[in-house]
Amino acid sequence: MTQRKSFGSDNHAGAHPDVLRAVMAANAGDAVAYGADERTERVTAELREAFRADSAFLVANGSGANVLGLSVLLRRHEAVICAESAHIDTDECGSAERLLGTKLLTVPARDGKLTPESIAERIPGHDDHFAQPGVVAVTQATEFGTCYTLAELRKVAEFCRLNGLRVYLDGARLANAAASLDCTLAELAECADVLSFGGTKNGAIGAEALIVMRPGLSDAVPYLRKQQTQLMSKMRFLAAQFEALLRDDLWRHNAARANAMARRLGAGAAAVPGVEVVHPVQANAVFARLHPRHIAALQREWFFHVWDERESVVRWMTAFDTTGADVDAFVCDIRATAAR
Ligand SMILES: Cc1ncc(COP(=O)(O)O)c(C=O)c1O
Repeated sequence: MTQRKSFGSDNHAGAHPDVLRAVMAANAGDAVAYGADERTERVTAELREAFRADSAFLVANGSGANVLGLSVLLRRHEAVICAESAHIDTDECGSAERLLGTKLLTVPARDGKLTPESIAERIPGHDDHFAQPGVVAVTQATEFGTCYTLAELRKVAEFCRLNGLRVYLDGARLANAAASLDCTLAELAECADVLSFGGTKNGAIGAEALIVMRPGLSDAVPYLRKQQTQLMSKMRFLAAQFEALLRDDLWRHNAARANAMARRLGAGAAAVPGVEVVHPVQANAVFARLHPRHIAALQREWFFHVWDERESVVRWMTAFDTTGADVDAFVCDIRATAAR
C-alpha cells in the first residue's frame, strides 16, 4: 500500500465510494444466482440501451471479456489482426491463442492505432497455407493512452465490412475514450460487432461488460461465457457495480477526471527540460522519455512502470481519484529530479 498516489496503473486505485455503497445495498437479502436476479436484468437492459446493442453480459475481468468477445466472432480457422501493442497480444499470457486456438497477426501501430492500410498489410490471399484473418481487434482508448477519433474508427469499421472482417473492440478504457471525444457509448459501439466496456479501471471493484451489437451473435454468448468460467454465481454484485457507474453517468465523470489529471501531468512534465512526452495525451496515460538515472531516482519515491527500458520510456497513469495535488507534487519531483 503506497501513501503517495500511485501513477503505476488505474488498477492501483481503490473502488469509488458509490460503487461500494451499491455493493452494500445489493447485499441485502437473497438474490437468484447466475444473473437471473432482477438487478442484473435491469443493469444489462440499461447497458443495452446505452450502447444501442443487441445484448450485454457481465464478466469479472478485462482479459475474460476479450477472450469471450473474440470467441463470439471467430470461426475455428480464423486469425485476429491487432496492433503490436494490443493487450490481447502483450499482456494476456497468450490466452487468445491458448484458449481459442487462434493466431494473432500483429501490426506495427503508431500511437497504438490500426488503420485500413496497416490492416490491409496483414490480409493474405485466400490460400490455405496462410492464416485467414476473420477479426480485427482495436483498443479504445489504446494501450498508449491515445484515442481513435470517431472518423478513424469508422474508417477501420468500413474497411473491415468491405473485406468481410468483424471488429472486436477492447474497451477496458472505453469510458476514457468517450469522455475524451465527448461522444456517446453508442457512437463508439456502432463501429464494432462486439466490444467490452471496462468498469474496473473506472472505479469498480472488478466488473466488465461484454456488449454484442448484432442479433445473430448473441445466442451463443451465455454458453461461451459459462464454458470460459466467466459466469459469476453472485452476479448481483457485478451488476451493482455497473448500477453505480451508470447512475448519473458516474462512469463519464470518473473518466473525465482521470483524463484531466493525465493532461495536467502531461503538460507539467513536458515543460520540464529533459522530459519528452512521446504520445499524445488523450486518455488517462502519459508516456514520457527521461534519463534512466532520473527514472531510477523518481522510482525511489513514486510507483510507476518503465514501459520500454531500451528507449527509456515510462508510463504514468491517472485514475478517477487522482487529485490535482497528487499530480502537482509528482511534477514538482520530476522537475527537481531532472534538474539534478
Ligand atoms: C487495454 C486493456 N485491455 C484489457 C485489460 C485486461 O484487464 P484485466 O486485467 O481485468 O484482465 C487491460 C488491463 O490492464 C487493458 O489495459
